[in-house]
Amino acid sequence: MSRSVLSQRVSRFGTTVFSEFSALAQKHGAVNLGQGFPDFDGPDAVKEAAQRAIREGVNQYAITTGARDLRVAIAEHAARFHGQTVDPDTMVTVTSGATEAILDVLLGLVDPGDEVVAFEPFYDSYDANITFVGATPRWVPLRPPDAAHAQWWFDWDELRAAIGPRTRLLILNTPHNPTGKVFTREELERIGALCAEHDVKVLSDEVYEHITFAPARHVRPATVPSLADRTVTVSSGGKSFSLTGWKVGWIIAPPALRDAIQRAHQFVTFATASPLQAAMAAALRLPEAYFTDLAAAYLARRERLMAGLREAGLKAYLPDGSYFILADIAGFGFADDVAFCRHLVSEVGVAAIPPSVFYSPEHRHLGQGLARFAFCKTDAVLDEASRRLRAKLTPRR
Ligand SMILES: Cc1ncc(COP(=O)(O)O)c(C=O)c1O
Repeated sequence: MSRSVLSQRVSRFGTTVFSEFSALAQKHGAVNLGQGFPDFDGPDAVKEAAQRAIREGVNQYAITTGARDLRVAIAEHAARFHGQTVDPDTMVTVTSGATEAILDVLLGLVDPGDEVVAFEPFYDSYDANITFVGATPRWVPLRPPDAAHAQWWFDWDELRAAIGPRTRLLILNTPHNPTGKVFTREELERIGALCAEHDVKVLSDEVYEHITFAPARHVRPATVPSLADRTVTVSSGGKSFSLTGWKVGWIIAPPALRDAIQRAHQFVTFATASPLQAAMAAALRLPEAYFTDLAAAYLARRERLMAGLREAGLKAYLPDGSYFILADIAGFGFADDVAFCRHLVSEVGVAAIPPSVFYSPEHRHLGQGLARFAFCKTDAVLDEASRRLRAKLTPRR
């Protein structure tokens, strides 16, 4: 019998749903609200800083922890926006996007056989990376707003039950993809108390840190006292500067945790593209107005797409952060979210993502009544999507 070329580690992970729906979007000429990247470009000053760095010879390997000027800029940014004190020399590692940072954190802090607790729907690399390090995920479902909850919420008993003697790490994502939940200070304080009780470390994925909508306010978990000593903050410049293709990310962690993670990073990518590191330092130092304008522009896009979805008869949940909207697809007569999204892309001409792929098999049904729409798109694209939805999406009770 011939042996599979696939390692057991990767055998569970086929082509992602993003590839499938991007191909379908292209085939049907659909407006693509599936992919979570902007269809507009990042700031000129930052692009020019990258060009300048290349011209001026910043083209060889950076130091593995990250170019010092970028580490200083990351520390300054953490103080400016989050009131967090960061030592650029002992607490920061620059990575190739948040994606690499997440793998480094798991490699550095989690052993085979350990358990990792995370909320679902989850960002898909969490599941894969937990598997890659031989750990077991314990998923806690977020539940949609209802009569008793104004926002997405979770059951504290379910969270408590998921944490056990083998739990090494809890993954938080705030603002959250795809629900748009922004964890409140009170939730973070209670999570901190639980993690302290069970000696659990926290990975806080904050790639949407600058995309929140008042009255919601992003609270950096590492600034909550009970979480400060146990939290690794992961972020990147992709979403904050509309430069997702650059893949410049970073971790901020107490020195002992950063040391563990750096040990992994040095053998995963060793270092991240030098000229882009120089430019990211310039990005993080942009004036206040840049960040205020970014959030204001996303607020306008959120309102635009929310109106379009509602006019098409979809019950859309208002996100407090990130650039995604989840909509309830009950009432449209489809067996599940995949069937709905296939119909949407081929018959309506709009691509969305079926969120059931962001759930464990146990809770997959929770995602089967939803569709995810991205609003990191220009007004013309959002308007065309809304027009098509209004014209062609009809309830099929
Ligand atoms: C929640 C979350 N974490 C991490 C990432 C990956 O970030 P990066 O592009 O910096 O690797 C994404 C990208 O979509 C994301 O949504």
